[in-house]
Amino acid sequence: MGLLNDGINEVIVTTHHNAAPIGIISRNEKLRMTLYHGSHTAEQVISGGWVVANFLFDPVIYVTTAFDDLPAAAFMEETAGNFTVERLCSCEAWGAYQATVERTTRESLLVSLLPLREEKEDLLLHPVNRGFNSIIDATVHGTRYKVTRDPELRDLIGYHAGIVKKCGGPREKEALALLFDYIDYP
Ligand SMILES: Cc1cc2nc3c(=O)[nH]c(=O)nc-3n(C[C@H](O)[C@H](O)[C@H](O)COP(=O)(O)O)c2cc1C
Repeated sequence: MGLLNDGINEVIVTTHHNAAPIGIISRNEKLRMTLYHGSHTAEQVISGGWVVANFLFDPVIYVTTAFDDLPAAAFMEETAGNFTVERLCSCEAWGAYQATVERTTRESLLVSLLPLREEKEDLLLHPVNRGFNSIIDATVHGTRYKVTRDPELRDLIGYHAGIVKKCGGPREKEALALLFDYIDYP
């Protein structure tokens, strides 16, 4: 099934001049995403019909793209099928997919993905690091905490922050400080 594994792949999805962490769901040999209304990614899927899954392991990029934009210089063009797509220059591998809205609900779009082209660039080894994984979890909770200020989410973020402090390297700690800034964490 190419670069994506069965289950949910938490990748950085790029569309035209936009990047965001998104979960690509691979189940029963089908690739899908659920996109909440209002995100740039959802708008761009409707207008452009393609996405790129960027595989990279920089926790700062996960936090930044969850809350902010990357500069235009972070993106480069590639050809995939009949589309000119954009990927991140710094990714280790990427896959371009045709993206079709399968269903729309009040909250979200269900988008199905068809592989167009997948490439490996400079692959590095990434030993499992709980600090990195906890940045991903804390950022997921952080995107909702920023809106709801739910104390349960605040506690979950606090739990993951503890793991980042214990197990993370300097880049994970930088990402945590950035996350706290974005979500105004107490
Ligand atoms: C690891 C991770 C996975 C996420 N997965 C999704 C997802 O599957 N669908 C979604 O709509 N938002 C998801 N989000 C939240 C979006 O990244 C967030 O709303 C972001 O601001 C959207 O950016 P955009 O407006 O540039 O598209 C996820 C966030 C993180 C940190």
